[in-house]
Amino acid sequence: MTAPALRIESLSLGIRGEDGLTPILDQVSLDVGRGEVQGLAGESGSGKTITGLTVIGLEPAKSEVTGHIWMDGDDLLKITGSALNAVRGSRVGMVFQDPGTSLHPQLKVGAQLTDHVRYHLKVGKGEALDRAAAALDRVGVGGGRDTLSRYPHEFSGGQRQRIAIAIALACDPAVLIADEPTTALDVTVQAGVLALIRSLVDSLGLAVLFITHDLGVMSAVADRVAIMRHGRIVENGDRRQVFTAPAHAYTRELLASLPGAAGGLRSREDLARIDPFGAGEGSGEGQGERSAP
Ligand SMILES: Nc1ncnc2c1ncn2[C@@H]1O[C@H](COP(=O)(O)OP(=O)(O)OP(=O)(O)O)[C@@H](O)[C@H]1O
Ligand SMILES: [Mg+2]
Repeated sequence: MTAPALRIESLSLGIRGEDGLTPILDQVSLDVGRGEVQGLAGESGSGKTITGLTVIGLEPAKSEVTGHIWMDGDDLLKITGSALNAVRGSRVGMVFQDPGTSLHPQLKVGAQLTDHVRYHLKVGKGEALDRAAAALDRVGVGGGRDTLSRYPHEFSGGQRQRIAIAIALACDPAVLIADEPTTALDVTVQAGVLALIRSLVDSLGLAVLFITHDLGVMSAVADRVAIMRHGRIVENGDRRQVFTAPAHAYTRELLASLPGAAGGLRSREDLARIDPFGAGEGSGEGQGERSAP
């Protein structure tokens, strides 16, 4: 078996405060394989975002961290300086719930993409522009030079999230961490972005750590699902097993609390019916492929 693209091993994290050390993560272990979406679900405050941020070295100040985060033989917890910068852009891409976190409102989309590419890959302007256009094409935001010369606010929410994904993937990282990437989007647009992520995993062999509190979204996109509670992984398994035969009582509770229970779940099969590069999304045309959940 080949090594996973990302291996989180026994990761524990506490935050030092006036009252001592507050434990946040407790012995978290997760593998994210190439061409695989590893989901990470759990209630608010369980530690999902901190897990993702720690991978790219952006854990909260005053954190005390133990364990290992392996990528291609490097322990990311041990590297610093320019090697850590490379992790944060060219080896691991990250997208957040709010594309406003990843996109600068006052910079044209083209400048944001080319600056990112030039900084990380040290290529010239021409090659950076080519890569920028290709990255936008890949996420279904075409339009070439016209798109590159527009500002983020000139795009719909779904398109902005696609642009954030384009930036995250512009330097061909092996791993993408997606933290609630579709939570702020309406259901149809959300389905298009999930289908896009799925198609990138399948076509590029990308390894994705997909964080969400929404088990419906999780069932649509993940191959494996880990359930986190109070900073611990209580269950991790194949998507179907976790959803149909959850091993842990807490997972059963989470599933039972879903609106509409099993009937409300969106499935991989639903996703497959949607054009991954859904044109017209957010422009009012809708995609019309999916009936309401
Ligand atoms: N910068 C910080 N300083 C101190 N504590 C923090 C900081 N960021 C998060 N925490 C604490 O760490 C715990 C885990 O937070 P985290 O953001 O990882 O939760 P989450 O599972 O992503 O929740 P949500 O679903 O609401 O996004 C919470 O108890 C939170 O209060
Ligand atoms: Mg979070």
